[in-house]
Amino acid sequence: MHKITMLGAGLIGMFYTQTLHANRSRDKVHVLYSRSEQKAKEAAASWGVEKWTTDMDEAINDPDTDVVVIGLPNSLHREAVLKAAKAGKAVLCTKPLATNSKDALEMLQAVENAGVFHGYLEDLTYTPKMLKTIDSVSKGAVGKVLWTRSRETHPGPHSAWFWDKSASGGGAIVDMGCHCIEISRALVGKNVRPLEVVCWADTQVHPIDVEDSAIGLVRYESGAVGQFETSWCFRGGMDLRDEVSGTEGTVWINHWLRTGFEMFTNVGQQGYVAEKAEGDKGWLFPVGDELVELGYVHMFTDMLDALDRGIQPMETFYDGYVVNAIMDACYRSVASKRWEPVELEIWRGEKGSAEKSGFSNYDDKHLLIKEEKMPDGRTKVILKEKESGRIVERIKRS
Ligand SMILES: NC(=O)c1ccc[n+]([C@@H]2O[C@H](COP(=O)([O-])OP(=O)(O)OC[C@H]3O[C@@H](n4cnc5c(N)ncnc54)[C@H](O)[C@@H]3O)[C@@H](O)[C@H]2O)c1
Repeated sequence: MHKITMLGAGLIGMFYTQTLHANRSRDKVHVLYSRSEQKAKEAAASWGVEKWTTDMDEAINDPDTDVVVIGLPNSLHREAVLKAAKAGKAVLCTKPLATNSKDALEMLQAVENAGVFHGYLEDLTYTPKMLKTIDSVSKGAVGKVLWTRSRETHPGPHSAWFWDKSASGGGAIVDMGCHCIEISRALVGKNVRPLEVVCWADTQVHPIDVEDSAIGLVRYESGAVGQFETSWCFRGGMDLRDEVSGTEGTVWINHWLRTGFEMFTNVGQQGYVAEKAEGDKGWLFPVGDELVELGYVHMFTDMLDALDRGIQPMETFYDGYVVNAIMDACYRSVASKRWEPVELEIWRGEKGSAEKSGFSNYDDKHLLIKEEKMPDGRTKVILKEKESGRIVERIKRS
């Protein structure tokens, strides 16, 4: 059983506490920190948390807690992590790990030097659909991964600090691109080095100093490309979709809209439908169990099991650091309008994981390019002659 210090009484503090207290859990949020006394008191009462405080040091150093969970605005993650490491507590930090890779590296080194357990709370790699996909892809179900596509778009975040660069460190890239980038790493293989990035970003709609939309491509050493699409301008709810394509297969996932659960109501559902839903009348896309569907349940199970067993969880601060380094390259690319290298001071994956040739032999003299069943029932093959390099087609004899 763990007693937990929760830093932050906002949306994610609420989801995390609900998750940690769900389903007859043994673990308990013991202290809640919020800078506002009223918010701390009210949230602690309604979430069933015994103690609350407006003093971050007091919350972190509470003698009864052994785990610190950080659910504060992005610019405060660094300070909170450094304090938790100094206090010798296990530390779990929400996404993005930091506002830039320099801070992320400092945070990684702080937890490693202090020898404390660390987990990166990237929930979207823990959704049941994504866990199944990662498992299938890692066993070769789609062959060699060529392309991943991850999209998170919605009508914009719910608190002022997200829109303010000094508190958030960036716009849609830092807020949601971090999810998409880590999903792509999980599918391509975390051992495969991300090499370079090209990214477009703009402020299409809102009067802010950060981007409200972005599209990027991350090129990996294996030749795979991870595409991400993020926006705070999308209308119609929260569009959370992932795809992975390889030489032998494809997976498509829709997490939030059109999941197979659709409801029509002429009078309205009378309240909250799902995160970032834009209305409660007409055709709706409710979500059965948000805590499960968004990955929070499997994420905290992995984190606390790993802590108990003395092993690393699936997502660590090192992963958060790599994601921050990729996002830094995105911002450099937006400015330069060119491919920019991903600068990683520490790389712990494979070196030289490039696989040059995935070509299949058709027979001694030919490489296979393509095989297709035609409308007349015959099977056509397109081949490359090894000796001459000529491209030819044949009807396959059965
Ligand atoms: N899917 C996810 O993993 C997910 C979802 C939402 C948010 N987040 C992350 O969680 C963190 C918090 O986001 P949120 O949605 O809960 O935000 P929020 O605005 O709902 O809550 C933020 C909390 O921090 C407090 N806070 C704000 N400014 C502060 C300051 N200067 N000093 C001390 N406390 C301050 C607020 O009072 C509130 O308790 C962010 O890093 C965000 O990226 C993750």
